[in-house]
Amino acid sequence: MPALSASAPGKSILFGEHAVVYGFPAIAVPVKAIQVKATFQPNIGSQTSVICLMEKGKKNEFTLTDLKQDNLFKSVISQFQKGIQYPIPPFYLTITSTIPIAAGLGSSAAVSVAVIRGLSQFVGKKMNSDQVNEIAFQSEIIQHGTPSGIDNSVITYEKSVFFQKNKPMEFLDLHKELFLVLADSDERSLTKDVLDFVREAMKDNPKNYNRIFQEIGKISLDAKDALITGNYYSIGNLMIENHHCLKNMGVSSLKLDQLVQTAMDAGAFGAKLCGAGKGGFMVALCERSKQKYIAEQLRLFSSNVIETRL
Ligand code: MEV
Repeated sequence: MPALSASAPGKSILFGEHAVVYGFPAIAVPVKAIQVKATFQPNIGSQTSVICLMEKGKKNEFTLTDLKQDNLFKSVISQFQKGIQYPIPPFYLTITSTIPIAAGLGSSAAVSVAVIRGLSQFVGKKMNSDQVNEIAFQSEIIQHGTPSGIDNSVITYEKSVFFQKNKPMEFLDLHKELFLVLADSDERSLTKDVLDFVREAMKDNPKNYNRIFQEIGKISLDAKDALITGNYYSIGNLMIENHHCLKNMGVSSLKLDQLVQTAMDAGAFGAKLCGAGKGGFMVALCERSKQKYIAEQLRLFSSNVIETRL
């Protein structure tokens, strides 16, 4: 059997992170410039499956049975297995990725989607995107506790989404191309920890957090219109407003604020942290002609700057 591969992109949340967990709308876009690739081969002559993480040209191998229940690979593979209800023959899975881990760009959901798609080919079980998305969501629950489902959705369908829990997902038809620059704060945080932080902070100050969530929900609604009509100025202003809300929630950091300021000083329409926060990446929207310059300015403070367009 030849090696079978599947890939999945990263994502950026343009509006509404955290509030989306509490039922408010949010908007996310796929970031195809970064990808996870999962390649499956039969592990001939062995009874066990092996996962090989390729990092900077080095191989890191793990036996599936040795991994803990909440390990990302273990959880997604067991969720997949639950879905198909028959044994998976021993495999050798190689993972290569350009999506930074614990950085707000959807690396766990992208691994899940790529692994599910690769495994479904490996066992010869066709799955549509809705099925892939559902399994990826179950795996996200094991990873993050109370995810909204936006990450697995935008990554599975590879389309810009307007997302609200328990409502039909809407794919956004963007009126104009979006030129984005993403910059790494070089700080890391686990989504689960930041979700726990927000939940605890909310218990102490429910009024304040509810007000912020309502404000973010309104920003996402306005942003939907601005994205559909292609009003860059309005999208940019809303990104800044959203960043301030996230700052007030306590999930920004000095470095993220500095990157937002740098992007704005360099001429971005707007910028904000993206994803769970307390580190990770910020995203800036810019004019095509300014994208290179803004990226250069951000590189003065960030080890990883990604230019992308939608
Ligand atoms: C993480 O990318 C976005 C959060 O809103 C969590 C979630 O929606 O699952 C922080």
